[in-house]
Amino acid sequence: MSETTARAAESMRTAHDTAEYDVPSYAEWDRAQPYATWASARARTAVQPVPPGMGGSRPGHHVLRYAEAEEVLRDPETFSSRINMEHIGQFHGEMIVGMDGAEHRAYRNLVAHAFRASKLEHWGPDLIEPVITDLLDRIAPLGKADLVADVTGRYPVQVILTIAGVPRDDHERFAVWAEHLNLGPLDPPRGFAAKDAMRAYLKPIIEARRAQPTGDLISEIVHAEIPGPNGAMEKLPDERIYGFLGLLLPAGAETTFRAMGNCLYALLTHPEALARVYADRSLLHNAVEETLRWESSVTMVSRVATRDTVVGGCPIAAGAPVGVITASCNRDEARYENPDEWDLDRPLGNLMTFGTGPHQCLGMHLARLELRAGLSAILDRLPNLRLDPAVAHPEIVGYPFRGPATLPVLFG
Ligand code: HEM
Repeated sequence: MSETTARAAESMRTAHDTAEYDVPSYAEWDRAQPYATWASARARTAVQPVPPGMGGSRPGHHVLRYAEAEEVLRDPETFSSRINMEHIGQFHGEMIVGMDGAEHRAYRNLVAHAFRASKLEHWGPDLIEPVITDLLDRIAPLGKADLVADVTGRYPVQVILTIAGVPRDDHERFAVWAEHLNLGPLDPPRGFAAKDAMRAYLKPIIEARRAQPTGDLISEIVHAEIPGPNGAMEKLPDERIYGFLGLLLPAGAETTFRAMGNCLYALLTHPEALARVYADRSLLHNAVEETLRWESSVTMVSRVATRDTVVGGCPIAAGAPVGVITASCNRDEARYENPDEWDLDRPLGNLMTFGTGPHQCLGMHLARLELRAGLSAILDRLPNLRLDPAVAHPEIVGYPFRGPATLPVLFG
């Protein structure tokens, strides 16, 4: 085939694939059901060309299979995270998820130790259990509840606020700001308003910790030092402090709140499995891991190609946005049998849910701990949990973030 013919064939393939691939518009994000589209595209290609979208005016690519996702996420020199500064960074501030190389390592190291698995042990009894116990005390006598409005929407946000050093009584406004920041591209004025409101709220707390550290995460960030441009150690500029908090608070709240809704949905729609977990709490570990695979609350992460390259046989031009569809990778037929099924007995294995490579989720141990501890407390306090047959059957919905909007249940 001549070079011209090969190029023509490539552009036909690209046009054809792009035409067949349905990327929901922002307006459709909160009710989208993208798994079928990902599955049919994944069957024919590892890397799907997509029209311009969140990455701006340039056409891009979606990476749909596990092996190719690992290739992209573990090669930060070819696939930069800077693109995150452009789209979500404008709402969250200057944050580590949008940094590369030495700058990223320096900032990540400032907080990484706080989230190591070994550090979390004392958070179970001291922090996580009191929060979930308070929430369950309110609904346990009632016999019915909406587990999203009454529990999951209030629980991870209170945990991350307490870790940060923000009064947990203010969780309701943080839950709203977190939602508006994460969905900033959907409604930019609302996203910017949330950013301003959260900064105004945090300012006096940051100033107070600057004057007198109290051992919480805000104190650590405010007093941390990293090498400045001339090599001398410097405190973080305010923009970076707000960027840290603007990422950590929503990342800690929104993602885990939806993940917990997904776990409860999976159990409530598989009553035999739920009965087994009631009888044997050690199965909660499998229930959480299988749900994180089957319905990941975060479905994608973004990169931009820094040079011309090829992934899974697909040419990617320098400057092209690359979305790694972590949720699609978790249903890659090459790794998982019957990937669309939620199976409590599926052997445990690696997941793409928390990403991989240098930006792998900092909060993954905390998230897993919160999910197991929260679900265990729910099963302890709410016996015979079942979906309320009088109310419409709930659904897990969404595009970049997925979870059920409500979970009406009866118990007792
Ligand atoms: C089930 C819940 C969660 C999911 C599915 C999730 C997912 C992810 C994913 C996929 C990434 C990688 C982003 C990338 O490669 O660009 C990430 C990064 C991150 N996550 Fe999570 N996350 C969860 C919970 C949390 C929690 C509880 C925290 C609390 C602190 C957190 C903090 C972060 C931070 C700070 C990063 C950026 C790390 C970096 O750029 O080096 N996450 N998360």
